[in-house]
Amino acid sequence: MSSRSRSPVFVCAVVVAAALGLVGCAPVTAPIRSSSATPEAADTPTPTPTPTPSGFDKTALPIDDPASIWVVVNKVRPLEPSTYVPADLITTPVPHLNPPGLRSEAASAMAAMFATAKAEGAGGMQLQSASRSYGVQVKVYNGYVSSVGEDGADAQSARPGYSEHQTGLAADISAVPLTCALAACFGQTPQGLWLAANAYRFGFLLRYPADKTAITGYMYEPWHFRYIGVPLATEMHATGVTTLEEFFGLPPAPDYAP
Ligand code: DAL
Ligand code: ZN
Repeated sequence: MSSRSRSPVFVCAVVVAAALGLVGCAPVTAPIRSSSATPEAADTPTPTPTPTPSGFDKTALPIDDPASIWVVVNKVRPLEPSTYVPADLITTPVPHLNPPGLRSEAASAMAAMFATAKAEGAGGMQLQSASRSYGVQVKVYNGYVSSVGEDGADAQSARPGYSEHQTGLAADISAVPLTCALAACFGQTPQGLWLAANAYRFGFLLRYPADKTAITGYMYEPWHFRYIGVPLATEMHATGVTTLEEFFGLPPAPDYAP
């Protein structure tokens, strides 16, 4: 489905889902070898992390552990276990529509981001949807399938066990008063523009950019922000890499495995 031409059916799906409540730089150096090393030892490559030119260590945190703030979840990288529940969900202290649970670190960053957005003139915002359990994602995904069919659903809603929302690190943000809620035009609102430019300062990533649908597997979602921590968000911003798949050298995830 084109993000620019939403059908009444799509809009209905969104409304239904919402109503359900578902809705230090280190120099890059070669390993130092002892001058007394044998020729054999000197020829044996030493495994090293994979720093970027800035020295950022891409291996500092795991990307497979659902409890890691760097976990990469997409259509070919389901959560393991599929019913994972974060241990430190708290109520995010910001305006919200649906339950505003997020992991503690993400919740604090979200509150700071909302406050700064308002102070910098971007306007008010609310959480449209935050952490969602496996069971809630079943209802959300099935609601989309009922409304727009499986292909339409897969373009905009993760199947249960494959959603970043289940990590407690992702949230959908809307403008207050509601304008373009969960629609592509949110990206052109003052709030959407501010978030796109500033979310990295608080450790968030606009996870589904318009020009990366073939990599992420999802349509443009200017409202969906994923907490990855300030160091990684800042590194991605500085290097201009906009997807976790590209940053970590992972395969594109346009579809689920057959
Ligand atoms: N809308 C995103 C892809 C989710 O359902 O997790
Ligand atoms: Zn989302």
